[in-house]
Amino acid sequence: YAADTKGMLKSLWELPGQCARAWELGMAAQLPPAGQFKHILVTGLGGSAIGGDFLRVYAARRLGVPVVVNRDYVLPEFVGPHTLVFAVSYSGNTEETLSAYARAREKGAALVVLTTGGRLGEMARQDGVPVITVPGGIAPRSATGYLFLPTLAVLYRMGLLPDPGQEVHECVSLLQSMREELKPEVPRDSNPAKMLAAGFYNRIPVIWGSSGTTEVVAQRWKGQINENAKAPAYWNVFPELNHNELVGFEFPGELLRRLYVVILRDPHDHPRVQKRFAITREIMEGAVAGVVEIMARGSGALARLYSLVYIGDYASVYLAMLYGVDPGPVRVIDTLKARLA
Ligand code: PA5
Repeated sequence: YAADTKGMLKSLWELPGQCARAWELGMAAQLPPAGQFKHILVTGLGGSAIGGDFLRVYAARRLGVPVVVNRDYVLPEFVGPHTLVFAVSYSGNTEETLSAYARAREKGAALVVLTTGGRLGEMARQDGVPVITVPGGIAPRSATGYLFLPTLAVLYRMGLLPDPGQEVHECVSLLQSMREELKPEVPRDSNPAKMLAAGFYNRIPVIWGSSGTTEVVAQRWKGQINENAKAPAYWNVFPELNHNELVGFEFPGELLRRLYVVILRDPHDHPRVQKRFAITREIMEGAVAGVVEIMARGSGALARLYSLVYIGDYASVYLAMLYGVDPGPVRVIDTLKARLA
């Protein structure tokens, strides 16, 4: 195993505590001025943006206004005084997010910043924009609790979202019990994350979620495998993938034998989508190296979401270990950022 220089395993172990602290940070945060908001927009990149997608999926059935996630320098035309914008950058120095923040200010949007500091923290303080300062020292993608849960607390305190406090509590307890099953000391046969990593090893992970439930988790697993294990991975969603990707599984020859497919499931998946899982498996099984299904745990939406995120996060770190790479540094992203400077 390569060294875990950024302490990714430690961060994973500490995720339940991070979620509890993140909620408190949001409950204590300064709020932006109240307004009649027509949309909520989260702007960020990579590990700082995925929390926006968590919010988008979580809030879809609870908020009266749409949540849009923006991963760009610019903002959609609709952004204006009736938009509440969360500008999120763990480092506070991501150029796309700095640019989007400046545009949001120009357009008169209400803003809240989540960051450890950096240029974004400085700009927000100078502008009098509320800043939720989250603890530094971990990889941005390990900080999803810090970068997501405060947004729920802010929306709740602004009267835009029903109280998610009980769901946060359930989520924290569930993660505390799950980590006992997922930790490195638990051998592969009893550790679902290690079993997944073994399935992914020397294969191409293909992660499938479903619209409105697990879609964002599929995206998260893909990103975690890329960044932690430094390996390719792909994701898609039901029912859309039944209208295109499935056809690719007719491809003759050995190519498909390199694919290892995971179907992420949630008890709230649409009944017709559940039927699609079974038929899709029947059609493609035998063509690929393996197909496994992972079911969300817990009762509340937050716990179900994070239960799947947690398994995927651990699996990606175990895959890094199988490949002998350090899960922490993302040198190619650093190189690219340096070359752009
Ligand atoms: O997880 C990572 O390291 C990346 O995906 C970063 O989140 C991404 O490059 C954006 O940086 P930041 O989160 O500091 O804005």
